[in-house]
Amino acid sequence: MCSIIGYLGDISATKILVSGLKRMEYRGYDSAGVATFADSQIRVKKGVGRVEQVNISTNLQTLPGNIGIGHTRWATHGGVNETNAHPHLSSSGQIAIVHNGIIDNYKELKEILQNRKYFFKSETDSEIIANLLQYHYDTTKDIRLSIIKTVNELKGDYSFVAVFPDGTLGAARFHEPLIVGVGKNGYFISSDVLGFIEHADDVIYPDNGEIVIVNFNGIELFDFTGMPVRHQITKISKEFADAYKGDYAHFTLKEIFEQPLTVLRAGENTRKELESFANAIKDAKQLYITGSGTSYNAALVAKHLFLKYGKKKIETIISSEARFYPDYFDKQSVLIALSQSGESADVIEAVKIAKNNGSSIFSIINSMTSSLAQISSISVGLNCGPEIGVAATKSFTSQLSVIYKIADMICDTQIEFDLQKISSSMNKVLGSHLEIQKVARDIKHASDIYIIGRGIHYPIALEAALKLKELTYIHAEGLPGGELKHGPLALMDSNSFVIAVNPNDSTYMDTLTSAREIKARGAKIIGISDIPSDVYNYWIEIPKTNESSYPFVEIIPIQILAYYAALEKDTDPDYPRNLAKSVTVK
Ligand code: F6R
Repeated sequence: MCSIIGYLGDISATKILVSGLKRMEYRGYDSAGVATFADSQIRVKKGVGRVEQVNISTNLQTLPGNIGIGHTRWATHGGVNETNAHPHLSSSGQIAIVHNGIIDNYKELKEILQNRKYFFKSETDSEIIANLLQYHYDTTKDIRLSIIKTVNELKGDYSFVAVFPDGTLGAARFHEPLIVGVGKNGYFISSDVLGFIEHADDVIYPDNGEIVIVNFNGIELFDFTGMPVRHQITKISKEFADAYKGDYAHFTLKEIFEQPLTVLRAGENTRKELESFANAIKDAKQLYITGSGTSYNAALVAKHLFLKYGKKKIETIISSEARFYPDYFDKQSVLIALSQSGESADVIEAVKIAKNNGSSIFSIINSMTSSLAQISSISVGLNCGPEIGVAATKSFTSQLSVIYKIADMICDTQIEFDLQKISSSMNKVLGSHLEIQKVARDIKHASDIYIIGRGIHYPIALEAALKLKELTYIHAEGLPGGELKHGPLALMDSNSFVIAVNPNDSTYMDTLTSAREIKARGAKIIGISDIPSDVYNYWIEIPKTNESSYPFVEIIPIQILAYYAALEKDTDPDYPRNLAKSVTVK
């Protein structure tokens, strides 16, 4: 959830660290800080707010030195304040660290270290790493040994980068991402390649349970027992060039507009994997699919599709709930995991539970170097490029694209979907974004928005509600229209807005009837449909397509609506409050 970065090279560290942190802010953005090493001294500046705010308020750029570490935080332990912001110094100030993840046994370790006269300033679990490294460094005077001893005492999931008293950078990875960049101006150690994308093309991906040491003599990698490890240097994929907003005002807008292209690219280059994936599913005795948030909503679409067109039953499991149902999984089961980041802790946990019970794991992921990719038997890539906006947009439609391709390979009944046609329908909807912006102006004062949809459109209603919540902070709820009379109808009055996801297919009349019932209670209806109706106070037109293809198309106007409503409400669509892109804590 946090981002960490380290740099050692021949140019000013703060410049590099600050620009890298800005690119990784999607991982957490409640506070930020930098520490640099120069003249045998570590200097720290940090504060509350986004990187740019902290940069201006503390003048980060004035920190001297060509070696440094930086951090953006998503608070887990301790409030959002300057003391809890990273980097954290050891009590003697000789070692500084930045940390991503959670140290489960920090309380025990803290007590032990306090008894040894190491003191703490913050409420964080992270500060323990600084003092533990310092303790082992004080006793061994050996950087390598102090890191090995430290990681062997830490419990939890983490990655960290530390600056040692001679300016050496030491980093370790345990179930959190850590990537090393090798560029002409130096070394980079970061949570994401975006941290150093402008400065290095060559990367090393350390495995879980590995340590990296970087100084002016070079780079050294070894495992937690101290055994040296070797990794190939690979080139960063060109797709990361997409990590720029270009002329778009926000990443979210850019990513919404990329979808006509990204749905076509989904699963490309992985035909063999797609086929193996499809074959494995075909033969599976029990099939489960898991994900969180948006990825879970895509899983619900998969459930519908496989049942309707392939008579194949898939049980959907919300990843964070899997721990309560370990008995779902056995040797006969196949678990499909959906995740944009491949790093969501809840998803990883669900997968581990299934794997420990002998199930096979297949995944659909955007980040193919992620932890989830490493623990899956087969992974298929979304191939949609980095998604920086915290709210998932293009990754959702790319997930649908891959799911449809796999379903198409195994279902007996042909699924009518043509990605080229879907792509041009998406383009048409995007072309009417200014019309949708007008609707956004009217919903900005709503306190509640309900979204109804039946059949395959129900997961889209859920996804629509999630987008509206995240981007506008308006309470939004997705419902199958038929459920209204069983309770939610009591909520409808003239203050309510209801979005009816209502394409002209087998669900059309049912949804229209529900919309009529709601309108009779005074609510305002926004119809998303290919045909107009007097029931709608607002009609957002989508092109006519076939029933199975509508989900791709009907989510687009809702993403646009949520985006523009966020602007109307003066919230930042790229960085919604309290959220982070890659949720690596449980
Ligand atoms: C919603 C959103 C989140 C993520 C969820 C899972 O817009 O972004 O709900 O979908 O945290 O993330 P991944 O797919 O990376 O596992």
